Amino acid sequence: MAADLSPVERAKFVAAKKAVDFVESGMRVGLGTGSTAAWMVRLLGERVRQEGLRISGVPTSSRTAALARAEGIEVVTLDEARWLDLTIDGTDEFDGELNLIKGGGGALLQEKIVATASDQMIVIADTGKEVARLGAFPLPVEVIGFGWQTSKALIGEMLAALDVLGREITLRMDGDRPYTTDEGNRILDLHLGRIGNARQLALALNQVPGVVENGLFVDICDRVIIGHGDGRVEIRDITTGTVERGRIEIAETENVFTDLGR
Ligand code: A5P
Repeated sequence: MAADLSPVERAKFVAAKKAVDFVESGMRVGLGTGSTAAWMVRLLGERVRQEGLRISGVPTSSRTAALARAEGIEVVTLDEARWLDLTIDGTDEFDGELNLIKGGGGALLQEKIVATASDQMIVIADTGKEVARLGAFPLPVEVIGFGWQTSKALIGEMLAALDVLGREITLRMDGDRPYTTDEGNRILDLHLGRIGNARQLALALNQVPGVVENGLFVDICDRVIIGHGDGRVEIRDITTGTVERGRIEIAETENVFTDLGR
C-alpha cells in the first residue's frame, strides 16, 4: 500500500509517524484536523491497539472525533481535559518563525483553542507548506452568519491600512451553499498574497465585529516536523533553535499500512 501513495502523501505520512514518537502513555493529546493530521490519528490508534498506549485525545473537529473513536482512541472534550500535554496538527503554511496559516479544512477555531491550551504544539507538514512569508494561501477567517456581509466589508476597510498585497475576500462555499463550520459559522477566505506583519493582522482581524477567530497562529507552534516523499524527516524546534534530521524507512512500515487499510 505504501507504494500506492503519492510523494506528498508519503511526506505527510512520515511527518506524522515521527510526530507520534513524542506521545507518551498518560498524555492528554490535542488531535488536529486535515489529511496530515488524519495520518497522525491513525498512527496513534495503531500504537493504542498494538502497544497499549493510554492517552486521552481532544479532537479539533467532528471529523477527527469520528476518526479517533474508530481508531480506538479515548476521546474527551477540552472541558474534561482542561489542559493538554501536546497537540499535533497539520498546517496550510508555516514560515521561518513557525507562524502558521491554518483553517483550510475549516477547523481553525477549535484548532486554535486546543493548540493554545497545550504545553506544546507540534506541526506536521510536507515540504510544500514552507514559505518565506505567509499569505499565498488564502487566510481563513471564521465569522458568524448574522451580518457577515458587514463583517466582510469592515475587514476589507481594515486591510486597506495594513501591509498586505491583495484584498480580495470570498465567502467559502460547500457546493451551492455557504460552508458551515462545526460551530455553525461561516468562513471568509482572505486572498492577501503576502502578509507583512502576521501578529498585527491577527490582532486587527479579531477586533472586527462578527469575527470569531482567524487562521493566523502566531507564537503557538513549538516544533515543525517536515516530511519528504523519500522518507526523510526534519524536526525544527523554535525554542532551542535546533534542527534534527532522520529518516523513516517506509518499506518497514508496510504492516502499518496494511493495518491502516482495515
Ligand atoms: C484544518 O482546518 C486545517 O487547519 C488543516 O490543519 C490544514 O488545512 C492542513 O490540512 P492538510 O494536512 O490536509 O494539508
